[in-house]
Amino acid sequence: MNIIVVGNAQETGKTALKIIKETLASKPNAVICFPTGSTPLPLYQEMIADFKANLTNYSKVITFNLDEYKGLGDKHPQSYRYFMDNNLFNQINVEKNNINIPNGVVKDAKTECLRYHNLLAEHRRDIQILGIGSNGHIGFNEPGTSFDSITHLVSLSSSTIRDNSRFFDSIKEVPKQAITMGLSEIMDSEKIILIATGINKAHAVLDMVKGPVTEECPASILQTHKDVVVILDKDAASLL
Ligand code: PGA
Repeated sequence: MNIIVVGNAQETGKTALKIIKETLASKPNAVICFPTGSTPLPLYQEMIADFKANLTNYSKVITFNLDEYKGLGDKHPQSYRYFMDNNLFNQINVEKNNINIPNGVVKDAKTECLRYHNLLAEHRRDIQILGIGSNGHIGFNEPGTSFDSITHLVSLSSSTIRDNSRFFDSIKEVPKQAITMGLSEIMDSEKIILIATGINKAHAVLDMVKGPVTEECPASILQTHKDVVVILDKDAASLL
């Protein structure tokens, strides 16, 4: 793992953007998979500012997202589709038809998972961007998820529901299930960029980087990938 420690959260975004632009320079039609959450917001701000200043071209880029809450549609302000439209896609020139996010409001989640898995199989990612949960999850692959997993419906752990309740009016409103890409699909990317900021991620970062490769810490599987860049602020790196 290539570990880069920067001064603050905004610099994690600048560092990740530099890597993305290097890929886009040689491959304008790159396939990029994005996360949601607080962690990638500095990156998305940097991408938007860079797009405005330098007209970096995303018109041929194909995007995927890691996950979506079950039951929340694209108009729901807490859905990940809404988050991505609002915080990134509506402000750069990515084509609507090139955006792929699991559909959280389908009746049959199994069919939706299979549809997404097949799409991923047809579009190998050039860059997979990740955050990490305080419990070591990546995507919504909670501790104990098989390293062989593909896109699946997951019941969220109580720690994830608690962590994510800050975005909702009350903890009761947090969906209990989500559709997430599996760990084998996350690993099937040419390059992986994981970003972590804040002291509440320090333990998960330590387990990911220095702990055993175990399904108890899903992010530890990244130790076995050939091209992973881990971008940390000082707090997230404080136990390394
Ligand atoms: P966060 O979530 O960026 O909101 O901390 C990260 C994650 O749960 O993967």
